[in-house]
Formats: sequence, C-alpha cells, structure tokens
Amino acid sequence: MKTVLVTGAAGFIGSNVSQTLLEEGYRVIGVDNFDDTYNPQFKEKQIAPFLNNPNFVLERVDIRDLPALTAVFEAEKPSYVVHLAAKADTRDAVQNPRLYISVNIDGTLNVLELCKEFAVANLIIASSSSVYGNSPNVPWREDENADRPLSPYGATKRAVEHLAHTYHHNFGMNIVCLRYFNVYGENNRPGMVPYMWTEKLLKGEEIEISGDGSRKRDYTYIGDIVRGTILAMEKPLGFEVINLGNHTPASLNELLAVFEKVIGTKAKVKSRPSHGASVEVTYADVSKAKELLGWEPHTSLEDGIIRLVAWFRSNRLEKS
Ligand SMILES: NC(=O)c1ccc[n+]([C@@H]2O[C@H](COP(=O)([O-])OP(=O)(O)OC[C@H]3O[C@@H](n4cnc5c(N)ncnc54)[C@H](O)[C@@H]3O)[C@@H](O)[C@H]2O)c1
Repeated sequence: MKTVLVTGAAGFIGSNVSQTLLEEGYRVIGVDNFDDTYNPQFKEKQIAPFLNNPNFVLERVDIRDLPALTAVFEAEKPSYVVHLAAKADTRDAVQNPRLYISVNIDGTLNVLELCKEFAVANLIIASSSSVYGNSPNVPWREDENADRPLSPYGATKRAVEHLAHTYHHNFGMNIVCLRYFNVYGENNRPGMVPYMWTEKLLKGEEIEISGDGSRKRDYTYIGDIVRGTILAMEKPLGFEVINLGNHTPASLNELLAVFEKVIGTKAKVKSRPSHGASVEVTYADVSKAKELLGWEPHTSLEDGIIRLVAWFRSNRLEKS
C-alpha cells in the first residue's frame, strides 16, 4: 500500500482527492492547519468521514512549521505528495499579500525541501489559471506568457512553478504543477461564485452579478480535477506544468441560466462593480493534459451544477 501525503486535505479539493485516494487503496496522510479563510467547521465536517478509516492519518500541522512538517515526513515516508495547502482567494490576496507569500511560497519551499530530503517519487503542486492574468490569447496553452498575473495570489502560484523547476533541475525531482481552472462541486469553497449562488438561490435571496455578467470562467467539475490530479500523481514526468480545465468557458449570465434551470427558480439579480483583480475570461487548452495524462474533462456544466446543488441541499442548507 503506497502512502500519499496530501497538504490542504481538509479543504475543498483536498478532501475530494483524499476520498478518492482512500477508495483506490492508498494510505493518506492529511496535513491541514484548518486555517480560518472560511469556516473551519466546514473543513472539520469534510474530513470527518475519513477519521475512522485505518488508512487515514490527520496531522494538524501548518506547512510553514518546518520542524512539525519534517516530523510528519519522517514518520510517514510518503511515496507521493499532493500539495494543495494554500491561501487561495484572489481578492483577499490583494489586501494581504504578505500572508499569501508566507503560506504559498515559504510553505511550498518547506514541502519542496522535504520531498527532496525524503526522496518522494512524485510531487504534485496546485497551481492556478490565475497565472495567465488577462492574456487575450485564449484558449491558454501552457507555453503562453504567464508573467502578468493580476493578483498577488497568481504571482505566488507562478513563483512556486519557477521554484519547483529549480528543484527538478538541481535534484532530479519529479514535479507536476497543475493549473486548475475554476473548480466547483461537492465541498465547494464558500467564497466562490457557484457556492454563493447555490446558497442564495436555494434560500430565495438576491444574488450579485459582477459587471454586466459577460465575464467568462472555465468552470471545471471537482470529479474531473480529482481524476486529473491522481493521474498526474501516478505518472512521474520529470517536470511539467499542465492545465486542468473544462475547455468550455461560460459567462456569468450563462452560469445563471444553468442554475435557474437546475433549481427551477428565477433569480433576483443585483449588479455590482467588477473587482480590478478579476480577469475577463479563463479558458484552458487541455491538449497537453490529454497527451501526457490521457485526461479530458467529462462533466458538463449542467451535470456538475446538479451535483453541487444536491450536495448543498444535504450538507449546508440551514447550516451555514
Ligand atoms: N478551487 C479552485 O477553483 C482552485 C483553482 C486554482 C487553484 N486552486 C488551488 O488548489 C488548492 C486547493 O484549493 P481549494 O479550493 O481546495 O481551497 P481550500 O481553501 O478549500 O483548501 C486549502 C486548504 O489548505 C489549508 N491550509 C491553508 N493554509 C495552510 C497552512 N499554512 N498549512 C496547512 N494547511 C493550510 C486550508 O485550511 C484548507 O483546508 C490551492 O492551492 C489553490 O490555490 C484552486
């Protein structure tokens, strides 16, 4: 049985990745500090189903705490590391850049150092579509210029990609940086539009739409992201940066139409100004993921929203 250390295991993507890894017969070491970017009780709930699983170990550790993180690597000697722990709010990052640099860059440096020291066979790092900034050359390929992010969050993700490459170059480590695009679904992070709209629409409350609703996002279902992440983990590639996105951007207005159809309600909508760190469109070219990982997104926006709404109804209604 191989051991996978998942950082950020209690979070949105981390809890879904951990669940599938356990189902597929891996031993999972979940590292998370239950950071308060959003309600830590949600994270406790997301991790709860694994706590009785003998193949799961939870370590309440901050990735910036090198001695504590070293002790986890020392005790568990993971074969693979899936590094998802991060501060991940683009707008918040504009106000709190130091915190983002500390967690996302210094924390990742600790992970890189320990993967080197403990000869981890493959390290997967969560990067983001936000590295592409407002580049007009959509769909974005991985070789597109990614040196003009709009938020310090995107800058930290780009810096981490560069740092990771140096560890591959100097120490021969296998590292894949996955640029995730607008992930949504079960255990969704609360600050994201699909979550906020699900909550408001189910409660019959007014939703806010940014600008004229024309901004497009490549909303990608969590199940597809989990599959791509595990495929990358199981296939050491040297060093690669790979997009994981739906390759089918939808505007906010189009997303709203899907929600109205799925929930069977007409939304009350209020317009609000767009944030300066918001890009016009995110749109992944996924041919590299197909070529290197045999991965393609399978889940349509409507099918994914059906699952998100069903999950929200049974897990968050009356509880948030
Ligand atoms: N959700 C998306 O659409 C998306 C898109 C692109 C990239 N990403 C990246 O994917 C990863 C996971 O994102 P998510 O959406 O699941 O976010 P999330 O906030 O739900 O999960 C991140 C987890 O990391 C933990 N964490 C934060 N700081 C930590 C620290 N110092 N030490 C240990 N744990 C810490 C948090 O408690 C949380 O459980 C992040 O790296 C994020 O930047 C997400």
